Amino acid sequence: MPDRKPSTWLGKLIALPVDSTPKTILVAVTLCLFCSMIVAFAAVNLRPIQTYNKALDKKVNILQVAGLYDEGVDVGAVFASFEPRIVDMRTGKFTDDIDISTFDERAAAKDPSMSTELVDDPASIGRKPNFTTVYLLKNTDGSLDKIILPIYGYGLWSTLYGFIALEENGNDIFGLQFYDHAETPGLGAEVDNPRWKAQWQGKKLRDNNGNLMIQVAKVAKAREHHIDALAGATLTSDGVDNLVKFWMGKSGFELFISNLKAGAA
Ligand SMILES: Cc1cc2nc3c(=O)[nH]c(=O)nc-3n(C[C@H](O)[C@H](O)[C@H](O)COP(=O)(O)O)c2cc1C
Repeated sequence: MPDRKPSTWLGKLIALPVDSTPKTILVAVTLCLFCSMIVAFAAVNLRPIQTYNKALDKKVNILQVAGLYDEGVDVGAVFASFEPRIVDMRTGKFTDDIDISTFDERAAAKDPSMSTELVDDPASIGRKPNFTTVYLLKNTDGSLDKIILPIYGYGLWSTLYGFIALEENGNDIFGLQFYDHAETPGLGAEVDNPRWKAQWQGKKLRDNNGNLMIQVAKVAKAREHHIDALAGATLTSDGVDNLVKFWMGKSGFELFISNLKAGAA
């Protein structure tokens, strides 16, 4: 009996040899489609877990910088002792105009309607957010214990995001730590070294005349304001110096801190 030739395009494709170009392309395309479906499915389904973990990580960092984190601690329960508030950076006062539960800090910092372009930009952040979240740690009697402020700025390779914890006087540093950066391990990433971070505790932002004196440098001008620059990572150290001065200075939280101390925030 003579072979019947397939009449449909599918029949013709199936009849082709396995190593033919159309069949090879078909297999490759099918495989790509299948893989992209798996990736898309995973991305969509893992997003809530990622968001939860990101929020948890931020809380852990806030606990750590405030000295309240221990392995196995109930993060949610301890974090409940903080009062997160939004500050309008232009007035240095708290505002309830922004919904704190949905506020996306990083997106707002890039949004021209929610931020101000910086002319003088030592932290290399481009725009200053008009609103930012601060965390107030209260004593059991309701008085202020610590103020946790977000800080960020450019190092050598990346923007370093972190928190600084100040004592209730707004001048004594309790701690500083970064939770997100891409500096080089062993060099700039030594900002995460506990021994380097420990230097911040007890240092004073300002002198008795209110001048901002805190400094990350190789040579100390005044010990109570000095943090040693990282060996072999002067550029990251300079970045940290710049960003801390920026956020603690006039363009940053200076107005808010003085309002808070005066009970006018
Ligand atoms: C691969 C590589 C990665 C580096 N990473 C960093 C870094 O993360 N932070 C930093 O300040 N310097 C880094 N440096 C070193 C800088 O280029 C520069 O030499 C250094 O900041 C100078 O610091 P020093 O004066 O303490 O030696 C890196 C250098 C190389 C070659």
